[in-house]
Amino acid sequence: MTENFLLADEPRLFDRLEAQASDSLLALIGLAKADTRPEKIDVGVGVYRDAAGATPILRAVKAAEKVLIETQETKSYLGSEGDARFVELIKPIVFGGLGARSDRIVGVQTPGGCGALRLGAELIKAAGGNSRIFVGQPTWPNHVPLIGAAGVEFVAHPYYDKETRTVLFDEMIEALKGARAGDLVLVHGCCHNPTGADLSLNQWRELADLIAERGLLPYVDLAYQGLGNGLEDDAAGTRLVVEAAEQALVAQSCDKNFGLYRERTGALFIKASSAEQAQVAFGNLLGLARTMWSMPPDHGAAIVRTILETEELEADWRAELKEMLTRIRSLRARLAAYDERLAFIDEQNGMFSMLPLTPEAVVELRASHGIYMANSGRFNVAGLSDDNVDYFAAAVVAKLDG
Ligand code: LMR
Repeated sequence: MTENFLLADEPRLFDRLEAQASDSLLALIGLAKADTRPEKIDVGVGVYRDAAGATPILRAVKAAEKVLIETQETKSYLGSEGDARFVELIKPIVFGGLGARSDRIVGVQTPGGCGALRLGAELIKAAGGNSRIFVGQPTWPNHVPLIGAAGVEFVAHPYYDKETRTVLFDEMIEALKGARAGDLVLVHGCCHNPTGADLSLNQWRELADLIAERGLLPYVDLAYQGLGNGLEDDAAGTRLVVEAAEQALVAQSCDKNFGLYRERTGALFIKASSAEQAQVAFGNLLGLARTMWSMPPDHGAAIVRTILETEELEADWRAELKEMLTRIRSLRARLAAYDERLAFIDEQNGMFSMLPLTPEAVVELRASHGIYMANSGRFNVAGLSDDNVDYFAAAVVAKLDG
């Protein structure tokens, strides 16, 4: 029937869609999988691999899942805030005891760190005004598309020089001096993605002072807490800037530190100027979440809640997280010891470092050695195994020579 109302040559809705290139980082997963060479190495997307090259489910996660199977009585709705107890238990891990007790900081569960970043952007937009987000270069390739889709304006500033392998701190501070009160600064809480190059504690202090002086808001992406130098050290910068700022946003993720990747488990925290304002912000977050995913998926948050509510499980999670961190640190040390041109890798943190390779050299390494890394030269340190770290280092050093 409806067809009768359309003129023969009128395009249908989907006729106007244009083909899209696939996400280059996620496409690497498929490319590496399809490679049949036994020596291939997938150091593309950020997932932790153990010495055998597997991404295991954490012991505490398995145990918590068993508890949930036996004790969970309903799958009924929890509402747009998700699992409130999960948020309450994550809060001290992110903010420490003092921050956790602050009634100016409120949070909601989100679908992973991505959901948190997007929800934060929607809140910024909903608040009106003309706040811009200052974002260091380079940054995680999905930051700008994900946050920008809410319609916020970005201002790019220098962060890291790939050739000299240094954080461009003075240039960054100079650029931030051009920010207006109410502008936001997107910062990686720890384990900078894609470079692994974090600010020193003194640099965080200087940034915190600038944020306080100029009335800026830190927008912290904290996706790798515990995988750099430990849970407390990795939160130190976040705590400094949040404490200094009158208002702030923190997007937290459990995808990596609980190994829950596909369960999409995270939280967005807002620090407001007062407890009353925090409640207003919380109400806005619920309304905005309702328009996007209505309610976040439960399973990952229920696992984290169960772990953090059970002393033995929490102790085992902390121990296994430390094992992961120790493994990443030892891989970094081995790469650094291989050749002085890789020495910088040991001074960096988390899953990633960025090699001073051209995109062409990256593609050549793919063809010649079956090494899959992002075109930017970013590679996932945690994707290496004890057996292939020297093979990887030799191939990379040969490219740096050539
Ligand atoms: C990464 O940067 O590899 C991870 O954060 C996964 C992703 O979603 O890009």
